[in-house]
Amino acid sequence: MPTKDGRSQIGVGLIGLGVVGSGVARALLERSDYFARQVGAELVIRRAAVRNLTRPRAVELPPGTITNDVEALLADPAIDIVVEVMGGEEPAGTYIRRAIASGKHVVTANKELIAKSGTELLAEAHRRGLDIMFEASVGGGIPLIAPLRRDLLANRISSIRAIINGTTNYILTRMANAAAVAEALRRQGLEPPTGGYQEALREAQELGYAEPDPTNDVQGHDAAYKLAIMATLGFRTRVHPSQIHTEGITQLSPSDFLAALELGYAIKLLAIAERTDQGIIARVAPTFIPLSEPLARVDGVYNAVQIHGDLTGTVLFQGRGAGSEPTSSAVVADLLDLAHAIVLGTRERKYWGPEGDIPILGLEHLETRYYLRVKVTDKPGVLAQIARTLGDHHVSIAAVNQKETDTDARTADLVIMTHRAREGAVQAALRELATLPVVIQVSAFLRVES
Ligand SMILES: NC(=O)c1ccc[n+]([C@@H]2O[C@H](COP(=O)([O-])OP(=O)(O)OC[C@H]3O[C@@H](n4cnc5c(N)ncnc54)[C@H](OP(=O)(O)O)[C@@H]3O)[C@@H](O)[C@H]2O)c1
Repeated sequence: MPTKDGRSQIGVGLIGLGVVGSGVARALLERSDYFARQVGAELVIRRAAVRNLTRPRAVELPPGTITNDVEALLADPAIDIVVEVMGGEEPAGTYIRRAIASGKHVVTANKELIAKSGTELLAEAHRRGLDIMFEASVGGGIPLIAPLRRDLLANRISSIRAIINGTTNYILTRMANAAAVAEALRRQGLEPPTGGYQEALREAQELGYAEPDPTNDVQGHDAAYKLAIMATLGFRTRVHPSQIHTEGITQLSPSDFLAALELGYAIKLLAIAERTDQGIIARVAPTFIPLSEPLARVDGVYNAVQIHGDLTGTVLFQGRGAGSEPTSSAVVADLLDLAHAIVLGTRERKYWGPEGDIPILGLEHLETRYYLRVKVTDKPGVLAQIARTLGDHHVSIAAVNQKETDTDARTADLVIMTHRAREGAVQAALRELATLPVVIQVSAFLRVES
């Protein structure tokens, strides 16, 4: 079936031919007959723009297709859909705006750009009767954007809880396993390896799961971009990454993983957005989660997203959150959707935009339980002082355990679990704890999901 304007082909322009771009190109080449039957016209890669023309490519394209001239790609009237898979805020943002201005639909995998500027970009595309699709921007091959934009639309969504960064989940899984092994060795009187953060990061880098510069992942920024996108769609209000409280995983120590294990928890970098009567609280931080929860059992580079809607109850999406093939699956699905709309001559695309302005609250409004590890002088009456300080701020202790007593230095680590308390109160208590002469340092402070 030709397009409404009589064409039997739809032109695609790729900006970027790296991990994702080459996966997309390969799928389009290898499955072209199947896609043509699905869409009703053939999807043809007219141009693929890269930075470095001499770099070897993981996919072979017809001669003359690969170019370093993005301007020519954007100006090519034979290109109907631009696929932006180069990443970064700029010049990707400019290229997408230019593509829209020249009447082309856009597919992008760019989480940073969509998280920061998606609302404006989508509105501009809509004004011109075009669409920007971004399924690949969150969770690689896991369907998340389409469910949030369509399948869950009838719901009032109250929470999104996610493990949405494979690099950090791999590192945390390694640290948890190392803690378990170390404890087993210690019980047998053997000296365990350190199993610390740096070791786990190095291994992740060797396996290609972490970038040479892992900052964006380990500091939680990547997860915050993805949470901003999901929260904006789920709550139908604008949630900017700068409104998300973001903590990374670099401060975690093997002692925290051991304590978590003993208490029946996993430590995961959780991206959580919750809607309360007062507003939305969104955070990315390493968090205790009971081992009985499905998210606690999502290990390695896997991702999972749990969404609670008032009609659906809790739904769970899980799978490979990155990589050439899973991500290309999401990009190509968006491409097929847009191509089909072109074939049908559907000029008007269903618009998605925020509906209202729900307040985004600071973390001091959060109410949850907390895990603290406090290094103290090992002498009588210390625990009473700590309990009193917490109590003065209306933070009550649910359980306490003395760990790692150093008899020579006369110090001990206290592991404390609190009952539910206001974050503002806990922070004030921590500031006061740090001033007590018996407290050497507050070594760890993590929130506990129930
Ligand atoms: N990798 C994943 O698993 C994954 C998963 C989900 C989403 N994403 C997102 O997908 C996007 C692409 O990621 P990737 O992993 O495929 O990146 P990548 O492997 O680094 O590839 C980037 C591509 O863009 C090209 N490029 C960069 N700057 C350019 C410019 N100014 N002009 C023209 N071409 C340019 C590069 O050209 P050269 O090859 O010549 O350097 C390269 O081909 C990012 O937004 C990323 O966040 C990636």
